[in-house]
Amino acid sequence: MARKALLSSAAAPLLLTFMAGSASAQFDSRLDVPFVPTREEVVQGMLDMAEVEEGDLLYDLGSGDGRIVITAAKERGVRGVGIDLDPQRIREARANARQEGVEDKVEFIQGNLFNTDFSKATVVTMYLLPDVNLRLRPRILRELEPGTRVVSHAFDMNEWQPDEKARVEGSYIYMWIVPARVAGAWEWETDDGSRYQVELDQQFQEVSGKAWVDGRAAHLTKAELRGDRLQLTIQPDGSTVPQTFTARYDDGRLLGLAARESGQAAEAEQVAWVAERAEGGSGG
Ligand SMILES: C[S@@+](CC[C@H](N)C(=O)[O-])C[C@H]1O[C@@H](n2cnc3c(N)ncnc32)[C@H](O)[C@@H]1O
Repeated sequence: MARKALLSSAAAPLLLTFMAGSASAQFDSRLDVPFVPTREEVVQGMLDMAEVEEGDLLYDLGSGDGRIVITAAKERGVRGVGIDLDPQRIREARANARQEGVEDKVEFIQGNLFNTDFSKATVVTMYLLPDVNLRLRPRILRELEPGTRVVSHAFDMNEWQPDEKARVEGSYIYMWIVPARVAGAWEWETDDGSRYQVELDQQFQEVSGKAWVDGRAAHLTKAELRGDRLQLTIQPDGSTVPQTFTARYDDGRLLGLAARESGQAAEAEQVAWVAERAEGGSGG
């Protein structure tokens, strides 16, 4: 099964060619992906793209010799967890962590990434294969908190478009921000007593839909989702003045954020309205 998955990938011949001649390139058929380390400058590019910083918890899925986790812990002060099926890699990673003096910040778990919990990650890194990424995709979308950054070396996630993409020293890297699940009908009331309703469709981070103001059809001219942040621009029919709403998705509700006065700190975020899920949501 693992061997079949590897060989069915369009990228497999490339990866295998790349591995040819490398001492670490023997392919164990129990693995879904062979060991090919990410080069140092690409590791840095991945950590930069995800803006890894103190307070993050980074998981590397298929962690090899531990280099991504160890670099993140050593240079950015974060805690990290590596998961690898191969006991030899886990031994190497633990020895490397000891040598680099970050044993207290990192953990290496010998296990299969398909049945190991990584839901607490704030950043996930991976250098796997296209079909392995795709098999992981439903768990990434379902189990990770909205806003979690996922960075992949070399391989994308098919129709889930990356939020960022870059080329570093000849390698592509991709980042996705796990989107909140905002599809469905919502309603809220603003301070002036206006009642807003929206029905949102969602495909990954792409959102579109319909809107109503006080029961009358309006235009949803813009809907943007990045992690747990949703921005909606609604223009009532016959009005030339669009209203922009910014909300944070939180545990099944949308917390509407008041526009910030200039110079106000990010922590001073004020909730101006709360949208709840509405039944049916036919506007009216
Ligand atoms: C291409 S290497 C990447 C290593 C490291 N992440 C890096 O970028 O340097 C892929 C790693 O995934 C591991 N691996 C393959 N299948 C796995 C599985 N099902 N569960 C956990 N690890 C796996 C391999 O042992 C290998 O170390």
